[in-house]
Amino acid sequence: MSDSRVPRRRRFLVCEPRYFDVRYAINPWMRSGVPVDTGRAHAQWRALVDAYRAHGHTVETVPPVPGLPDMVFAANAALVLEGRVFGSLYHAPVRRPESVPYEAWFKSAGFEVHHPESVCEGEGDLVPAGRWILAGTGFRTTPEAHREVQEFFGVPVIGLTLVDPLFYHLDTALFVLDEETVAYLPEAFSPGSREVLARLFPDAVLAGREDALAFGLNSVSDGRHVFISPGARALAGQLADRGYVPVPVDLSEFHKAGGGIKCCTQEIRS
Ligand code: ARG
Repeated sequence: MSDSRVPRRRRFLVCEPRYFDVRYAINPWMRSGVPVDTGRAHAQWRALVDAYRAHGHTVETVPPVPGLPDMVFAANAALVLEGRVFGSLYHAPVRRPESVPYEAWFKSAGFEVHHPESVCEGEGDLVPAGRWILAGTGFRTTPEAHREVQEFFGVPVIGLTLVDPLFYHLDTALFVLDEETVAYLPEAFSPGSREVLARLFPDAVLAGREDALAFGLNSVSDGRHVFISPGARALAGQLADRGYVPVPVDLSEFHKAGGGIKCCTQEIRS
């Protein structure tokens, strides 16, 4: 069974956590007074990059900028699909300057960047899944941005409403396993959105709250290997039963800022 899962090589963009810190609180995970161990954060992030490379993925880096402690969360910078870049407009004014260095990177890599008119936090809330783009709203990205995304890519956008502030970005409550299916925490969504997910993904992996609180849904799958928080034990077991291969990577230092593996990873889809 486990041999039936075929990995696809990915191109990832990440940002070294040189200036990573918790200096403001824009989600319930961020508490001032909880110190970040910078050395530990750096070692954890390195291990993620090494794990991606060891599994055949390409990892590129955008240079970190002093004074932007959340810049390590590369997922929020854009959604890149078919080589087209839909940039971001951060909800929190403190994060807005992050768009500049990411845009510079995209330009130097040969991409044009579309500037959204409405608040939109990239892959944090915009998740390509099979024939659709799943789009979260409720805390950050707005329904207006969902419309803009659909118009820009010409791909059907499925709006999903998040209801729990601990799971404020779609990528904290759901991740894509492969072209066919996803894993998610049902209670993180409004009743209607739950029904939509059940209709679109009848075979989805349903995660429990404990695994989601361990950032288990902030995972990255290449179709076979699932880079996942080691705290999400039950979920890793469910995935293994389905023939996926969990690859545990501990980013616990980043949980203090409300981020995990997926938050630190931007996928460049060509
Ligand atoms: N501190 C950051 C924020 O609240 C964390 C972003 C996490 N990124 C993500 N893709 N969920 O904006």
